[in-house]
Amino acid sequence: MAPTKSHTTLQVPTLSALGPLTPEEADLFEKLDLARLPRHVAVIMDGNGRWAQQRHLPRVAGHRSGTKSARTTIETCARLKIEALTLYAFSVENWRRPKTETDFLMQLLREYLRREMPLIQKNDIRMQFLGRTDDLPMAVQEDVRDAMQRTAGNQGMVLCIALNYGGRAEIVDAMNAILAEQNGHAGSAAITEEMLSRHLYTSGLPDPDLLIRTSGEMRVSNFLLWQIAYAEIFVTETLWPDFSRARLLEALVEFQKRERRYGGIREGQSEPEESARVVGE
Ligand code: FPP
Repeated sequence: MAPTKSHTTLQVPTLSALGPLTPEEADLFEKLDLARLPRHVAVIMDGNGRWAQQRHLPRVAGHRSGTKSARTTIETCARLKIEALTLYAFSVENWRRPKTETDFLMQLLREYLRREMPLIQKNDIRMQFLGRTDDLPMAVQEDVRDAMQRTAGNQGMVLCIALNYGGRAEIVDAMNAILAEQNGHAGSAAITEEMLSRHLYTSGLPDPDLLIRTSGEMRVSNFLLWQIAYAEIFVTETLWPDFSRARLLEALVEFQKRERRYGGIREGQSEPEESARVVGE
């Protein structure tokens, strides 16, 4: 699908959107062009285990602390009127971790949904879950359904939690959905990029234009493989539990410094038609 070049947000946020700022945040906020924020920010929240290890704590303490960074990121993006935020909470590959850790993460997510619902509602956030949610433990499935139903009428930012998510699995699921749709129809239409995009878990949302990864790893880890085709990637050494509002603003400032060409050339760099013509033509 042709990438969209616009960076329109829901509305342009006001200077007071974030409330009181630290001097560092104020400095970063000043550098931001609020009319040119990314439409969709996706985050690989990495480094919880290392954060805990550095403090001689069990790994799960890192995950628990990571929920605070999630809260800050969600609230800040919602207040900046960013259209969509996707957080990579649990991948299809994460089931390879010890059962105690996967059980903890599922429990933490359930707790999180319960505890943060007032904040989600206050900020008019609509929740979606991306992934093979039908394969999650039944209690988690119920909470996921409940969170979606309770926020379905909200008009603000869409918060996507990637849960039991895999980028390759998503593309396979989209292909199977297309096949199922075409089954029974006489003659099947060729699959187009637009058709595939429409069958992804993110159908209807703009593709992420900014992908943030914490803890310094230079990988995309099977995250939104189709959708990040033109995303700007921002990798920070900061471990996820230390990812503060200032670090998020820093990522947004960095995003606005990037020149986005979508395979084209820099604006103002095209040659006049005449000189581009082959001599003697
Ligand atoms: C990666 O760190 C993190 C995860 C696999 C889990 C992320 C989950 C949370 C932050 C909990 C909150 C969830 C929501 C939706 C708010 P890691 O364990 O791979 O860290 P490491 O690479 O240092 O071991």
